[in-house]
Amino acid sequence: MAISRETVEQILQTARIEEVVGEFVTLKKRGANLIGVCPFHNEKTPSFNVNPARNIFKCFGCGKAGDSAKFLMEHEHFTYPEALRYLAKKYNIKIEEKEQTAEEIMLQSVREKMFNINEFADKFFVDTLWNTEEGKTIGLEYFRERGYFDPIIQKFHLGYSPAKWDAFTEHAKKNGYSEELLEQVGFSIRGQKGLYDRYHGRVMFPIHSLTGRVIGFGGRILVNDPEKKSPKYQNSPESEIYDKKQTLYGIYFAKNAIAKQDECILVEGYFDVLRMHQIGIENVVASSGTSLTMEQIRLVKRYTKNITMLYDGDAAGVHAALRGTDMILSEGMNVRVVVLPPEHDPDTFGKEFSVEYVSNYLKDNAKDFIRFKTELLLKDAQNDPIKRGQVIRDIVETISVIPDSIFRITYVKECSRLLDMPEQTLTNELNKILRAKLKKTLGIEENVVTETDTSTTTPKQEETVEDQLPAGYYQERELVKLLLMYGREMITDERFDEDGQSVYEQVSVAQFIIDDLKNDECLFLDPVNKKIFDLFDHALDEGRIPDDQFFVSHEDEAISQLAADLLSSPYKLDQWEKYGIYVKREENMLRTTVLSSLYRYKDLMIEDRRKAIEEELKTTEDSDDQLILLKRKKDLDDIRKQINKELGIVIAK
Ligand code: GTP
Ligand code: MN
Repeated sequence: MAISRETVEQILQTARIEEVVGEFVTLKKRGANLIGVCPFHNEKTPSFNVNPARNIFKCFGCGKAGDSAKFLMEHEHFTYPEALRYLAKKYNIKIEEKEQTAEEIMLQSVREKMFNINEFADKFFVDTLWNTEEGKTIGLEYFRERGYFDPIIQKFHLGYSPAKWDAFTEHAKKNGYSEELLEQVGFSIRGQKGLYDRYHGRVMFPIHSLTGRVIGFGGRILVNDPEKKSPKYQNSPESEIYDKKQTLYGIYFAKNAIAKQDECILVEGYFDVLRMHQIGIENVVASSGTSLTMEQIRLVKRYTKNITMLYDGDAAGVHAALRGTDMILSEGMNVRVVVLPPEHDPDTFGKEFSVEYVSNYLKDNAKDFIRFKTELLLKDAQNDPIKRGQVIRDIVETISVIPDSIFRITYVKECSRLLDMPEQTLTNELNKILRAKLKKTLGIEENVVTETDTSTTTPKQEETVEDQLPAGYYQERELVKLLLMYGREMITDERFDEDGQSVYEQVSVAQFIIDDLKNDECLFLDPVNKKIFDLFDHALDEGRIPDDQFFVSHEDEAISQLAADLLSSPYKLDQWEKYGIYVKREENMLRTTVLSSLYRYKDLMIEDRRKAIEEELKTTEDSDDQLILLKRKKDLDDIRKQINKELGIVIAK
C-alpha cells in the first residue's frame, strides 16, 4: 500500500533527527549541533554531525548526509517506505494509505499471492524434512551426511520435496492455491498427465529477499546422475517477485556481517554459503552459478565497498573469478581474489579445516584482483611477445574502468613492475583508452586526459572529468546554497519607478535571486542545480517558497543529497568582516552576501561569454560582434559598479 503524500510530510516533519540517530549512535552536544562517531565508516575521532535545527545529519568524513528517512535507509538498509513506516510507528503517526489504481491493486495482489504461496511451500518443505519418514531418512540424512548440523539446516529453512510426482501440487491445490499460480511461480510443470512437481525428490533451499521474504527456491537432486537426464539444481523461474539478476543467495543472513566487517565474500554455490556460515564466517553470499550482474554488485555496495571472491581452485573457478570483475571495479569497489587448493571448493575446504585455518588462509591468500589477473595472464603468455602485448592491453583495459585516478596511478606502478614494462608505456596505453572513453561518454571531441604521477614526473596539465565541469559550477552551488538556506528570508530590493525614483520593497531572497538570474538569462548549467532552480521558479509562480526540508526529503536522490550536503556546512554570513567590511544589520549582511554571490556568478558567466566572443572576433571582422562584446563589458562593469556601491567599497580585481 502506498503512503499518502500528506502522511509522508507529516512523518518527516515530526521525526527529530537527533532522536532517530540517537537510537543507533551515541551523540554528544557540540554547540548547536550534536556529534558522534560515524556508523558508516571507520573512524576514531567523531566527524558525524547532527543538526537539529535543519533536521539533518552529515558525516564530514565519508560524506553521507540526509534526513531521518535517509539515515534509516543507510543504517538499517530499509527501503524508503520501510523507513517511513518505522518513523510513523516511533512517533505514533497513523498512516493514511493512498488510493491505488486498479492496475496497482492487481499487481499488488499478484505479488502478495506469490509471496503467500512461497511461504506456504517453505513451511511444507521444512515440515516434510523434519517430520516425515521420507524427509528424515532421505533429505535430512543427506544434509547430515554432508556434514551439516541441525542449527544451520534450521536457520536457512532447508527442506525436502517428496519423491512422489505431484505431492506438493496436490497439497497446494487442496489448500486453495490455483493451478495457474502454481505454474506461474514455478512449483508445478504441466506434463501430459497434468501438473507435476518441479522439485520432486530434491532437497530444498528457499531464497530470501533482503528483508527475509521467500522469493524463490533452489532444489538439489540427491543422486548424482551421470547421464545428466535432469539438472543438478532446479531453480524457480523468473516471476514478478523473483528476479535472478537482482538476487544473491544468503544476503538476508549475511547483510549485517557484511556491513560490520566491511567486506563481502562471494562464493558460487548454495552449499558454499551454508558451510561458511556453519564455521562462523557469515559475511558470505553466492551468485548461484550465474555470472555476476551489475544489480548484484550494487546490492553488495549498499553494505560494503570490499568484495573478496572465493572460488574453486580448479581452472573453471579461476576463470569464473576473471568474469564480472571489471564490473565491480567500475563501481569503485575493491576486489580481491582467493583461490583455493585445486581439489577444493569453499564447502569441502570448510569441512576439512578449522575456522582458524580457513580464516588465516583467506587472510594470507587474498590477492588484489589486478595483481591476480596480471600474474595469471603472464603465466599463460610466458615469453611469447605477441601474447605479452595482449596481456598488457587487457590489464590496462581493466585498470581503465577504475573510477578513482589515484588508484589507477597506483596500479600502473604496480603493473609496470610485474610486467617489467616502463611506467610511461602503460600510462600512454591507459591515456589512449581513457581518451576514447571520455569522448564517447561526453560526446565531445578529442580531449587531453593525462594520467601522471606528479611526484616522479614533471607536472603536466592534468585534466580530469571533474575539471570539465562548467566554470560556473561552484558559483552555481553557492547560489543554490543561499536559496536553500535563506530562500524564505526577506531582503530589501531597490527598484526604479517610471520617474527614475528609487523604490524600496521587501522581497524574498528566493524571488530576488531567481528574478535576477532570469533577467540576465543566466540559467544554471549543472542538471541538479537546474532542477532546484526550476523547483523554486515553479513554486514562486504559485506564490509559495519551498523550505529546506522540501529539498532534503525530495524523492530525487540527487536533489536530496545535494541539499543535505549544502545545508550541512554553515554559511558564514559574516565572512565580509575578513575583508574589513562591517555590515551592521543582519539583513544587510544577507543582502550583501546574496548580491556578491550573484555578482561572482555572473562575472564568471560574462567572463566566459567575453572569452567566447574574443575567440570569435579573431576569425570574423564583423563589427556587430564587437558591439556585443563592448555591450557585455559594459553590462559587467555596470553590475560591478552597482555592487561596489552597495558594499560601499571598491573591490579591486
Ligand atoms: P554441490 O555439488 O552439491 O556441492 O553443490 P555446489 O553448490 O557446490 O554446486 P556447483 O559448484 O556445481 O555449482 C555452483 C552453483 O551453480 C550451485 O550452487 C547452483 O546455484 C548452480 N548450479 C550448479 N549446477 C546447476 C544446474 O544444473 N542448474 C542450475 N540452474 N544451476 C546449477
Ligand atoms: Mn560443492
